[in-house]
Amino acid sequence: MLETTHFTDIDDISASELDRVLTRAADIKSGDDETQLTRATLAMLFEKPSTRTRVSFETGMTELGGHALFLGPEDIQLGHGEPLSDTARVLGRYGDAIMVRLFDHEDLLEIAEHSDAPVINGLTDDAHPCQTLADLLTIREHVGDFDEVSAAWVGDGNNVGQSFVLGCAMAGIDLTVATPPEYGVDDDVLEKAAELGSTPTITTDPEEAVADADVVYTDVWISMGQEDQRHEKLQAFEGFQLNEDLLSGTDAKVMHCLPAHRGEEITGDVLEGERSLVWDQAENRLHAQKGLIVELLE
Ligand code: CP
Ligand code: NVA
Repeated sequence: MLETTHFTDIDDISASELDRVLTRAADIKSGDDETQLTRATLAMLFEKPSTRTRVSFETGMTELGGHALFLGPEDIQLGHGEPLSDTARVLGRYGDAIMVRLFDHEDLLEIAEHSDAPVINGLTDDAHPCQTLADLLTIREHVGDFDEVSAAWVGDGNNVGQSFVLGCAMAGIDLTVATPPEYGVDDDVLEKAAELGSTPTITTDPEEAVADADVVYTDVWISMGQEDQRHEKLQAFEGFQLNEDLLSGTDAKVMHCLPAHRGEEITGDVLEGERSLVWDQAENRLHAQKGLIVELLE
């Protein structure tokens, strides 16, 4: 059982609870923990598309003995003018938990405010904490104990990067963040990271960031909803691509939350190569979220 009702970002749980969720996830993955949540229902509300989040939550609920249902705004009255707050109250009466993928983080907080059932953030413009759970599980499996790991985030200071910054601060991972100056992580995220344990080293130089890194993480430069910024962002991110040139001279592993745009933020050979952890990372969404759900609902 977690102290928090909702999981709106990774720092809704404490560092020790984070460790517990990851351990639970590993035990579920290995088969040592066979917890079932028979007949539990997860309502999943998606404003944006998804492959991993949708399928891993749905599969995870089935494997736990429960059920998940997919709701797009147009499938329900939300898309026809029913307020978010009413939707949240009603879904919270039927479901054991609600997973939401939305544009505006404030909308997620509004749903959490009105739902009696736990609300899980499946990505907003600001945060992607379920991804961070899977990322940390992957680092623990493939890179090492958190206090011995140096990580680098290279690219956009986006939703995935922001939750990763907080997760690293909570886990005690030494992190360097390299972004173009105008695309850094938000100041309030850096302030929260400081309160949680440590701020990352901030640079605009990708070479500096990867030099001592055990693992280098990137994500798309143009996130969902930013398609109109494509031209200026492609120019700003020149030099930030994860390619063998940048990584030569390091033994760094490579992570990417997917979907990837080969030839933009990462080359196909790096994504497919020996450094890549991305497929295990994607699989770990399933295990990490099962760990989260049992800890939230049990
Ligand atoms: N990484 C991730 O959240 O992928 P989807 O957008 O496919 O869910
Ligand atoms: N930053 C990306 C992550 C996709 C999983 C986006 O928001 O589109």
